[in-house]
Amino acid sequence: MDTLLTKIYADILPLVGQGKVADYIPALAEVSPNQFGIAIYSNQGELFQIGDAQVPFSIQSISKVFSLTLAMKHYGDSMWQRVGREPSGLPFNSLVQLEYENGIPRNPFINAGALVVSDMNQSRFASPHYAMREFVRRVSGNSGVYSDQKVARSEYEHRSRNAAMAYLMQSYGNFNNEVESVLKNYFSNCAIRMSCVDLAKAFNFLANKGFCQISKEQILDTHQARQVNALMATSGLYDEAGNFAFQVGLPGKSGVGGGIVAIVPNRFSICIWSPCLNKMGNSLASVAALELMTQQIGWSVY
Ligand code: DON
Repeated sequence: MDTLLTKIYADILPLVGQGKVADYIPALAEVSPNQFGIAIYSNQGELFQIGDAQVPFSIQSISKVFSLTLAMKHYGDSMWQRVGREPSGLPFNSLVQLEYENGIPRNPFINAGALVVSDMNQSRFASPHYAMREFVRRVSGNSGVYSDQKVARSEYEHRSRNAAMAYLMQSYGNFNNEVESVLKNYFSNCAIRMSCVDLAKAFNFLANKGFCQISKEQILDTHQARQVNALMATSGLYDEAGNFAFQVGLPGKSGVGGGIVAIVPNRFSICIWSPCLNKMGNSLASVAALELMTQQIGWSVY
């Protein structure tokens, strides 16, 4: 595995810096673009890493998988009345489907869906962001994980699109808590900083039938873990989900901080990070590295 990582790292390095760092959240634009790291964690607890794998970055939409997990644990199947399970085929921050579809977002990974899931968690936890931070610390085994409040504040200051979605859903009766307070918790979750190593470990329960070997907890049951993987496979990369299934063939979740996590069911959890994004808002070098990795090893769920 170490030889494979060295080869992938060297082959992809020329792509690092191509694309564009996310700048619609001004504080995110301050990241240094030429960073690249890979971490792979096996169901036997082996860790493989290369490059900037221990550098914390803004996890952004990757946090939506953690919020979904917390909501699924509590609400079970009843939550699917408020959010769908279909790919949207549209950018993550698109509003157009919401009105046609009566305020029910297509899936929990587009922003509208993640906001509904955050609203569910707001109804359940006295302090939803602290519940989330505690959860990711536990499943990553890193008690130092924190949220960058400068990024969270910057997102709140530029919240118009997300606020518009949340208020539209409220007008359809699909939002129960005060919008501004849900937005603040959602942004604090997106602003959590974790490294590739932290994320590969934290996501391992999805490769391991819902069981986290770090905290020794059954986080989700086997069936639910499979459902989260299915949602990642169909919607985890937004309007690039089809291409990602075609080229990589694994459930994955991206964030505009440049991270992508991918799951090899029953075997490995992977995190790759490089901050520059392609036109669909996914890390250009990370998508290319995952393509190369799965081609070389023949990993695919299809
Ligand atoms: O709400 C937003 O726009 C960001 N906090 C998260 C967007 C994101 O990471 C989309 N993923 N590629």
